[in-house]
Amino acid sequence: QESPLPDGVPEAARRMAVFGPAGHPVLECAAAEWARAVRAASGESPALLAGDAGDAGDAPSVPCVAMGVLSALPSGLREAAQEALAGAHSDEAYAVLPVDGGGVALVSRAPAGVLYGAFHLIRRLRLGQPLGEPCVSSPRNDLRMLDHWDNADGTIERGYAGRSLFYRAGQIDFDEGRVRDYARLLASIGVNAIAINNVNVHEIETRFLTEAYLPHVARLAGAFRPYGIRVFLSVNFASPVDLGELPTADPLDPRVEAWWRAAADRIYRHIPDFGGFLVKADSEFRPGPFTYGRDHADGANMLARALAPHGGVVIWRAFVYNCLMDWRDRRADRARAAYDHFMPLDGRFLDNVLLQIKNGPMDFQVREPVSPLFGGLSATNVMLELQITQEYTGQQRHVCYLAPMWKQVLDFDTHARGPGSTVAEVVSGRLYGRPRGGMAGVANVGDDVNWTGHSLAQANLYAFGRLAWDPSLDPAEIAREWTRLTFGDDPYVVRAVEGILMASWPAYEAYTAPLGVGWMVNPGHHDGPNPEGYEYSKWGTYHYADWQGVGVDRTMATGTGYTGQYHEPVRSLYEHLETCPDELLLFFHHVPYTHVLHSGKTVIQHIYDAHFDGVEAVVWMVEAWRRLEGRIDPVRFERVMARLEDQVQRAIEWRDVINTYFYRKCGIPDERGRHIYP
Ligand code: GCU
Repeated sequence: QESPLPDGVPEAARRMAVFGPAGHPVLECAAAEWARAVRAASGESPALLAGDAGDAGDAPSVPCVAMGVLSALPSGLREAAQEALAGAHSDEAYAVLPVDGGGVALVSRAPAGVLYGAFHLIRRLRLGQPLGEPCVSSPRNDLRMLDHWDNADGTIERGYAGRSLFYRAGQIDFDEGRVRDYARLLASIGVNAIAINNVNVHEIETRFLTEAYLPHVARLAGAFRPYGIRVFLSVNFASPVDLGELPTADPLDPRVEAWWRAAADRIYRHIPDFGGFLVKADSEFRPGPFTYGRDHADGANMLARALAPHGGVVIWRAFVYNCLMDWRDRRADRARAAYDHFMPLDGRFLDNVLLQIKNGPMDFQVREPVSPLFGGLSATNVMLELQITQEYTGQQRHVCYLAPMWKQVLDFDTHARGPGSTVAEVVSGRLYGRPRGGMAGVANVGDDVNWTGHSLAQANLYAFGRLAWDPSLDPAEIAREWTRLTFGDDPYVVRAVEGILMASWPAYEAYTAPLGVGWMVNPGHHDGPNPEGYEYSKWGTYHYADWQGVGVDRTMATGTGYTGQYHEPVRSLYEHLETCPDELLLFFHHVPYTHVLHSGKTVIQHIYDAHFDGVEAVVWMVEAWRRLEGRIDPVRFERVMARLEDQVQRAIEWRDVINTYFYRKCGIPDERGRHIYP
């Protein structure tokens, strides 16, 4: 619930005018959101001046907020707006311009751009920034998407905030108001696409493509539509077989192609602006083209041809690896898998296919190098997949603000076309002049009253949207902005919450698996310390700790050769011990515990220090939060307090298990004599 602003609203906000196609739902939403924000801030709705939509009318003569689509603007405003938007490549771009006499114009070529601009003005209003300050903002990524791992039974795979917002007991069954609020929330951060079901498509969700379910999918799509959000479905590659309609799902069989064409036609009859399919194939026991001796380009292109006549796209996941590996074979390396599978296919995917690549080569660990497919693929549309839900980063019981990690990923220089070939440039499509690109985040919301279980986990959702729109934003600035919009303007609160958020990822990394090895978690649910939980398993997730050393040799010289998947100079940087960054050392090299890091510490001393420091950081966070009592509302205060206190206990557990594990392996005591359980 928003509180009124102490000084009310600027003069221009007291009136508004709207210009654009009459009754356009997205434009209506933009106007309604702005009016609602003004009402919340001042107690009064803005007076509606002109702008019966469709009527190009005159420029308002009194100060007001005039919003609309370029083509419908009164001529007095149109010229300046046209000029402002001339350089913007996206129709979703918006411009804000001051108007003579104290008014403000908000303009876009498309209604969706007006909606994003309205939320921009709402941010300015709440943050006390001048409304009319000129600006042009264009999304860096065309596709800004949330992937829900929701199941029809109402559970959420890797969900930590309650049950699904979309499903109950095997049905698409949702609270219209709640979903509408969710759509508002997503639009306010610029998200424009959503995959509504888990990439692991089970029996019921396979039927979402049928007449029995499509009207309900369409209802859900209808709830998102006014907020400019297009719905996607995760599909089961074996659908024609599993639905009992064909004996095969071979992508090169004409019957299969025809089946998918009919499925696509059917979907578009119900949902004319349907986004397309998200596909997990030949991965973790999901069916795919390999069954038929076909490759992933065969599979993706077949689906893409079915969607193309309707303007839909296929988002094909690159998360493909052998999950039946042998820990005895030290040459086998899961990290290599995505690159090895997809590089040979570069150039074979149709233009309406995007390959969705996880940020790292493994699986959303707290620290991984960037996937070498970014910058590797040059003739394929790619998308970056991030995990907003905190599967491996504290499951929303720990605070772990992920924007600083994502920012490192986006800023990472692949050197694919020389310096400046950042991941952000690759995934936007710009680096290689690709027609499509984007960013997807695995959603962290559920039906918990605060959406994300941990109130501070909302910052991750917020940051995802803001970075997908503009990867150049600064994570600390985003944290500050989120805090002010969420908890208000008390500078003491803002400093403390920003401090907690910014300290949280480094702290989590410090008290969990060290120096990039990852995976020291309990198998299955992936929470809590278990240093050898995955060490002798089939999943390909090893650290090879023994009495002398730890780490995975992924060099070309003596290891799995994974470093060879990067362009120079990154390849050499990781290949050599002398240049490999400390935080990734054990990802790339197997070293003795006495190896000296760039920091000057030995590996074992770093492990001990990091684990003690990590716990201290959480203790600091608890104290910093405790001092906010009385400065923020008691409900959120208590809820976060309880989780932070729990986090201290969990961090201590991590510290002691990991320190003892390594102490028992190597027998080297802590230089500083702190207690390590024998
Ligand atoms: C991880 C996660 C699974 C998920 C998979 C994926 O392995 O634990 O729950 O299905 O990633 O991204 O497909």
